[in-house]
Amino acid sequence: MCGIVGVVGLADCSETILDSLKRLEYRGYDSSGIVTQTKDGFGLQRAVGKLKNLSDLMRESPLAGQSGIGHTRWATHGGVTEQNAHPHVAGDKVAIVHNGIIENHVALRATLEAAGHLFSSETDSEVLAHLFLQAFDEGMTPEQAAASVLSRIEGAFALAAMHVDYPDMMIVARNASPLAIGLGENASFIGSDAMALSHLTRDVIYLKDNDFAIVRPEGAEVFDSAGTPVNREVVIVAASQGVVDKGGYRHFMEKEIHEQPDAIAHTLAAMTGADGTLSTPLPREELAQIDGIVMLAAGTSHYAAMVARYWIEALARVPVTCEIASEYRYRKPVTGAFSCAIAISQSGESLDTLMAMRHAGEAGLKTIGLVNVPGSTIAREADLVMPTRAGPEIGVASTKAFTAQLTALISFATALAEAKGAIDTARRDEIHAQIQKLPSMVGRALASFDEIRPIAHELTTARSALYLGRDVLFPVAMEGALKLKELSYIHAEGFASGEMKHGPIALIEEGLPVIALLAAGEVMGKAASNLQEASARGASIILITEERAAATVDFADRVVTVPNIDPLLAPVLLTIPVQILAYLTAFEKGTDVDQPRNLAKSVTVE
Ligand code: M6R
Repeated sequence: MCGIVGVVGLADCSETILDSLKRLEYRGYDSSGIVTQTKDGFGLQRAVGKLKNLSDLMRESPLAGQSGIGHTRWATHGGVTEQNAHPHVAGDKVAIVHNGIIENHVALRATLEAAGHLFSSETDSEVLAHLFLQAFDEGMTPEQAAASVLSRIEGAFALAAMHVDYPDMMIVARNASPLAIGLGENASFIGSDAMALSHLTRDVIYLKDNDFAIVRPEGAEVFDSAGTPVNREVVIVAASQGVVDKGGYRHFMEKEIHEQPDAIAHTLAAMTGADGTLSTPLPREELAQIDGIVMLAAGTSHYAAMVARYWIEALARVPVTCEIASEYRYRKPVTGAFSCAIAISQSGESLDTLMAMRHAGEAGLKTIGLVNVPGSTIAREADLVMPTRAGPEIGVASTKAFTAQLTALISFATALAEAKGAIDTARRDEIHAQIQKLPSMVGRALASFDEIRPIAHELTTARSALYLGRDVLFPVAMEGALKLKELSYIHAEGFASGEMKHGPIALIEEGLPVIALLAAGEVMGKAASNLQEASARGASIILITEERAAATVDFADRVVTVPNIDPLLAPVLLTIPVQILAYLTAFEKGTDVDQPRNLAKSVTVE
């Protein structure tokens, strides 16, 4: 989603800003822009589409200056046009960039227009430029202007503003949207996340909600919402290799699919205690106290939560509810039956999940953040962090983060079950041993690329597809459908196999692709019968299954097999062909695999 970067006090800063914007490209955007401050005023370049278009413009007309801000925009208010791209300049005196939504922008705009301000875009963000202009024109200092503007706006935001009269100064502020300030030797930097700054500095200040800061080359002064100076800790972020590359793969997604054995192994290591047994961020005595868990997540992370519900309820006998994060707080949930909330998020920045976690925390639940990005907002705000160690995930479609989440969650479920006395240590060790086999099993499942290629070829011409799974494979069916939709733009739905006969079976017509997930276990026979019902009505069955279960569906049109595995862990292994099928279908259709249309990696608006 929108990305903000800024530099104060670095000669010819526009190239640095562009480089930092490239590091935020993975978040998703549809236009971009940079403004720099020179002795003659602002220099501005904006372009629709990829950053290359902005970089081409800058090659034709370079932007001078030692302070500036850049932005990648993911459209919310107003179409994808150059006029709506950020930065926005008001009265040739103020330039701003903004991430989030100014909820009261309609009323503010009307007031400003009545006062004679002329707007040039359809965005909610432009009101910020005019509010700052008004404040400075009234003679306010930067601190007073910041406090005044913040007192007038509502919503979630991260923003940066510059004024021509203050060439080496930038105002920044945030509420619920992420923003980091990087401190260099003779220059300061701002970025939507630490990754944008990792090539510039490791010393980072994370603003708290409703903080604002005055950033100068020599450092940053931070103020709380009342305008009182406050100290915010300087955090040393982990060294980074900088821009993550594709490592010889065609797409980040292809690389990330192949990184899953490592992502799982590293995540398992993070869930393993010094004595070699499974451990969680909670000590055993506190685990034993958990009597109900609320899972909060969006998209693929929500499907990881749904898989975990099967595991936790079956193994630990602890009730679990899985909530779509964006729905949770607004339906005023009854929380009394739950003592713990697990917020699952790859980015650790999904605003829906963050807000849901805050709501759960305010209701008295202990919050655990299951996140992949260290230092992210959810990681910083949760009572406890349970990390996945998948490494940076750049492709918009979540792959290795999902299987890493599953790894952490089965480990958590097992440790919880043992702490609750629902399983003995022998069973715990048996499951642990199965989990330890996952990296090599996933490695073997990756060999199915060539087997899946012709199936993907056929799928490219489909208008619609169904994914079916039963029991613990039902959430994987929904994840498969999501992967196909978001990458190849083919309509797809995931259903619980047993639910088909209650309505969705009406969708079946001759040749409709039905991707069927099947594993050995209690419900295999019933799931196979459900597939028979679809096949009898003309569906083309693409079976994704374990080697030992393949013969159960001898009517399948296509079969992809993975090695046999404990039924508990089948969701992890069967996910691999599901990801490969979506990847290869999208690749053959020629869609933008790593940055599918309309999507953002880090969704920081509600
Ligand atoms: O970073 P998060 O895990 O909080 O993101 C949640 C969803 O936005 C994300 O999983 C999304 O559904 C992916 N595009 C799925 O591939």
